[in-house]
Amino acid sequence: MSFSIERYKQESKKLDTTGIDWQAVTASPLSKGDLFCLHYMMDIENHVPLYLSHLLVTRACMDPILTAFLACWNYEELWHGENLAKLLNLYGIEFDAQDRIANVRANLGFQNSVSILSTMVGSWLLKDFSAVYLTIGAINELSTLTGYAALIRKSGHPVLKDLLSRIIKDERRHYAFYFNSAKEWLAGNEKAQRVDRWMLNRFWVPVGQGVKTQEQVDALALYLFDDEQGEQDLLTLDEKIGKLPGLAGIELMSKALYVARERRRQNPEWAWRLIDNEEWAVAPPKKSPVGELTTRRMNVEAELSVLEGT
Ligand SMILES: [Fe+2]
Ligand SMILES: [Fe+2]
Repeated sequence: MSFSIERYKQESKKLDTTGIDWQAVTASPLSKGDLFCLHYMMDIENHVPLYLSHLLVTRACMDPILTAFLACWNYEELWHGENLAKLLNLYGIEFDAQDRIANVRANLGFQNSVSILSTMVGSWLLKDFSAVYLTIGAINELSTLTGYAALIRKSGHPVLKDLLSRIIKDERRHYAFYFNSAKEWLAGNEKAQRVDRWMLNRFWVPVGQGVKTQEQVDALALYLFDDEQGEQDLLTLDEKIGKLPGLAGIELMSKALYVARERRRQNPEWAWRLIDNEEWAVAPPKKSPVGELTTRRMNVEAELSVLEGT
């Protein structure tokens, strides 16, 4: 698996959706589980700019190759979120994509600022921060594309398959960058390998956790991977990450599935109730009105009403 940053900079572009048969979105059904996963995935794709804000304050961003990658990566991820929202809207689920993004962010509240600060401080204290961050990037991209492949398989929806297959191609390039960069950092650096393994075993969480609750993460994991093929996909994923120097035999995504199963064993309603009750709407937070956080949108509306009144 090779990756050239110069080639990536030249070729990076907005997701090409030419020829996707959007008109046929309603011709095939999507299950409640498919819809739950699509909302989750859309929210996490749309969370990338905030995730980026955490990275840009770290010492990893002293590296111009990394910042060049992030500049292109952020733009590509934007179009993943936009197109997932488009598909859901065309399927008949009514929401304003921009309002939903604002609500997801507003719900993070103060926790987001604390997280930025702790990542910044951690990165400057920890010399091998980049190794950890790059490995997590590789796991996130690989689990995202594995999740999309599982959703294609579960849903059997032709238009969704077409869209997700195109997104998967982008995610593969992202994975190649993170994996190769992590490998470079870790090769021959035993201290970095020890730090990486220790941090992953203690602090790693599946992609989306933090923006989503533990139960939402489990609902996604159990819907997509709680069968023979799904479990095998996660074991293969761990094996691939285990090929990084110092990470042989590491268990991350497969372990996440096993603990999700255990939580459901203790409470049979766990996770599935979110899917069954169609709990995918995002309400604005009570204490932090979104209007205050997105004043530009409010001002545009106010200006329009003034113009209409004159
Ligand atoms: Fe993406
Ligand atoms: Fe990605």
